[in-house]
Amino acid sequence: MTEHTHVPLADLPPAPQHDGDEALNAIRRFADTMKTRHTIRDFSEEPVERALIEAAVEAAGRAPSGANHQPWFFAVCEGQDIKRRIREAAEEEERAFYDGKAGQEWLDALAPIGTDASKPFLETAPYLIVCFAQKRGGLEASDDKKNYYVTESVGLACGMLLTALHLGGLATLTHTPNPMKFLNEALDRPSTEKAMMIIVVGKPAADATVPEHALKKKTLDEIMRIY
Ligand SMILES: Cc1cc2nc3c(=O)[nH]c(=O)nc-3n(C[C@H](O)[C@H](O)[C@H](O)COP(=O)(O)O)c2cc1C
Repeated sequence: MTEHTHVPLADLPPAPQHDGDEALNAIRRFADTMKTRHTIRDFSEEPVERALIEAAVEAAGRAPSGANHQPWFFAVCEGQDIKRRIREAAEEEERAFYDGKAGQEWLDALAPIGTDASKPFLETAPYLIVCFAQKRGGLEASDDKKNYYVTESVGLACGMLLTALHLGGLATLTHTPNPMKFLNEALDRPSTEKAMMIIVVGKPAADATVPEHALKKKTLDEIMRIY
């Protein structure tokens, strides 16, 4: 069995500490900021500094993960050619999806959002971040171990990525063309990785809209109960 060593928490950079009401105020300010996050589907061509993307991915990489294997990989696409290829392949899959492959119940669920097979934002937005989940890997780059709670871990990292991008003033769309296997080939990723989502990043178009349906959020009473 490998020996485990620990370091005192007190020796690490300090986490936020608040006096009195400041803790509640800090969380409320953050909650209010998160109320201004909306999935955007109309992007402007305004460029975004790559440093913002790198800093956000660095934040995402600090998510907790099963056995600390950090089973994620973020393929950042900024070139027009790769974005065009992803758009073409995604729209092909999406045409089949909306033409019936999805099934009526799923299409009915999507109807109030108003999406269809056309995905111009995949070329318009300055960045596409393709988030891959790694079935195998480990802490060291050369490791080939089984990863655990991969979907949960990558979901957490993606949530932190969306949050960091929002805090940086960037608009995002979580896009999941179905299926996403084409992304392994397009981005030269191994078959042990599975693309989980494309996070489209940029500035919203001046005339961007959001579906009314997406503004309806469950109340605290509906999503929480004290036991
Ligand atoms: C896992 C996941 C997959 C999604 N896939 C798509 C998608 O393929 N296309 C799309 O337009 N929106 C997609 N969305 C965005 C949702 O439609 C959106 O989050 C929801 O309507 C709530 O809106 P809000 O993000 O503005 O709060 C996805 C969201 C999640 C979490």
